[in-house]
Formats: sequence, structure tokens, C-alpha cells
Amino acid sequence: MFTSIVAKRAFSTATKQKSTKVTVLGAAGGIGQPLSLLLKRNSQVNHLSVYDIVNAPGVAADLSHINTNAVVTGHGPENNGLETALEGSDIVVIPAGIPRKPDMTRDDLFSTNASIVRDLATAIAKHSPKAHVLIISNPVNSTVPIVAEVLKLHGVFDPKRLFGVTSLDVIRASRFVSELKDTDGSKTKITVVGGHSGVTIVPLLSQSSHSFTEDEIKALTHRIQFGGDEVVKAKNGTGSATLSMAFAGAKFANALISAASGKKTVTEPTYVQSPLFADEGIEFFASNVDLGVRVSCFRPNGVEKIHGLGELSPYEESLIAAAIPELRDNIEKGKKFVA
Ligand code: NAD
Ligand code: LMR
Repeated sequence: MFTSIVAKRAFSTATKQKSTKVTVLGAAGGIGQPLSLLLKRNSQVNHLSVYDIVNAPGVAADLSHINTNAVVTGHGPENNGLETALEGSDIVVIPAGIPRKPDMTRDDLFSTNASIVRDLATAIAKHSPKAHVLIISNPVNSTVPIVAEVLKLHGVFDPKRLFGVTSLDVIRASRFVSELKDTDGSKTKITVVGGHSGVTIVPLLSQSSHSFTEDEIKALTHRIQFGGDEVVKAKNGTGSATLSMAFAGAKFANALISAASGKKTVTEPTYVQSPLFADEGIEFFASNVDLGVRVSCFRPNGVEKIHGLGELSPYEESLIAAAIPELRDNIEKGKKFVA
């Protein structure tokens, strides 16, 4: 484990205060590094723990020179590194796993990423069972059910504390709409529901304050559903979205931490165990969710309320109908993998 003497001293001071420990698993990767950088900027994070099977000490040493609150510790797999990295975590973010190449679907990543995520979830169940777990690794539609099943096997599953990170779909949606309508993207609210792959990504453009022609709605919907492919194609075999994903992941983690301050309701989109389509056998679904205020110290209280979808246009109804069968297959595949 990398921890400088100065860091150790700062850490012992930090542990005397209420603290938020955030652990990033896969922290040396394309997403992991910028995500860890953005988390290091959050003054409410007292301990940033970075774990990867390669290069984590270097990433930790580099981050540890930034003069913000968080003490940074780096951990590799040797000497029970994963256990040490996880112990006492309030939030664990998982961007570990391989990214897509052109002509791959997210589901094509399943054969490699399912076991990576399963093994990390097992370690979480044993060493930080109370943590809020944020899944970035694809295919999110299946990796979230995998983590849920592993946590259930260990008797520590709490649906309020498991999140698939779908923030990037909403960030893309607001950016694409703001480009079209010449508005400030950061203030352009677009709801996106469903899952995180192709047709399972369902933007609800009819609920936006903007008006669109039918052609605009079709073009925007397609671009939001396949925005990830734009980046994969442009990166030409070297990976998928990393910087925008780090931005999205940090936004979600920061929202969770900010909810812990209990000042106001924090609402974020996320893929969670949800009652919305339970009648149709869909256990997980992304929608806007209120994140709860703290229950103790800085520990956030996870999912407080799952918002309904509101009124849908006939086109959006047809998008939901197309999303459901794929989502059902993706969820089933994740659950079967653990069973
Ligand atoms: P990357 O290859 O650059 O980084 C992945 C990191 O994971 C590497 O550093 C690797 O060493 C590490 N890793 C592999 N196995 C590990 C293990 N068992 N324990 C800990 N670390 C491990 O990939 P990336 O571009 O950072 O993408 C990571 C994942 O995020 C991919 O599956 C990608 O599809 C997904 N992703 C999701 C979204 C989303 O919106 N949810 C967006 C972009 C990318
Ligand atoms: C994205 O939406 O950018 C990610 O899911 C990565 C990918 O494979 O497209």
C-alpha cells in the first residue's frame, strides 16, 4: 500500500472527524484516473482509496500531491490490497473492466467483465458491506444484477445502496439538446430512463421545456441512444468514453455525498432495483431517484424515492416497449451468471 508519512499523519487527523471514504476499483484506467482526480477535488472526501491490478501506487502518489482534503492511499492486489482498499468505505465506485472496440456491443464485454465485477462484489460483501456501490463497468444492464446477486448470496444486499451509473446518458442528452437549441447545457434538463445500452436508453424529450419537430426527436433519440458508439468509433480501437464518463461518475458520487449533508433533496438518474416495471418482470430500471439525507456521520442514505416516468408521448411508449425485452434479457443474463 502506498501511504506517505505526511499522508498517514493527515489521515489520523482526518479519521478523528466525520469522514467520507471513497474507493475507486479500476482506478488506474481510462475512467479511473480522471474520476479519481475529480473525487480528490471534493472537500467532503477525507479518504480517497484507489485500487487497481496495475499502477495504483503511482496514481495514488500523483493524486496525493494535490492540496485538497482527501488523504490518498493506493492499493494493488498484493498483501490483501483489495481488502485494505475497501475497509470502511462509504462509497465504492467500479470502473474496472475492459472497454468496447468498434463493432462490439456492450453485451460483448460480458464474457470478460462479468467475472471481474463478480469478484469485486464478493470482496465488497466481505470487507465493506455497508458501502454504497456505484457500477460503471459495462454492460451495466447486467453488471448491476450481478452485484445484487453476489451481495444477496452474502446476505448484505440493500437495494437502496446499489446504483448503475447512467448519468452519462443524461449528460449527453442535455448537451445534444443544448447544441440544437443553443442553450446552456448545464441548465438543460432532459430525463432519460430505461437502461444503459442502445435501445434500452430512452430519452423523454416530450417532458423537456423545449419543443421539437418529429425529425428532431427521432435524430436526437438515436444520437442519445448511440452516443457511446460515436466515441468508440472516434477512438478507433483504443477504448470508449473516459473523460465524459469520469465527469458523469464524479457528478453522481458527489450528489450522493452532497445528499449526506441533508441540506436539500438531491435527484439523480440511476439504474436501481425498481418497482416501475416489476409487473413485467423487470427488476432493475433507470429513472430519476431522490438520494436520501445522512443517517449517521457523513454516510448517505441511498435511494429515498424512485420517481415514476410521468406522461409519455406515443413515440416514447414505443421506445419503452422496445427497451423492455432487451433489458429483461440483460438482467436475466447477469442473474444466471451468479446462480
Ligand atoms: P480501461 O481499460 O482504460 O481501464 C480499466 C481498468 O480496470 C484498468 O486499469 C484495469 O487494470 C482495471 N482492472 C481490470 N481488472 C480489474 C480488477 N479485477 N480489479 C481492479 N481493476 C481491474 O477501461 P475504461 O475506459 O476505464 O472503461 C472501464 C469500463 O467502464 C468498461 O467496461 C467500459 O465499457 C465502462 N464504461 C461505462 C460507462 C457508463 O456510462 N456506465 C461509460 C464509459 C465506459
Ligand atoms: C458509453 O456510453 O460511452 C459507455 O457505455 C461506453 C461504451 O461502450 O459506449
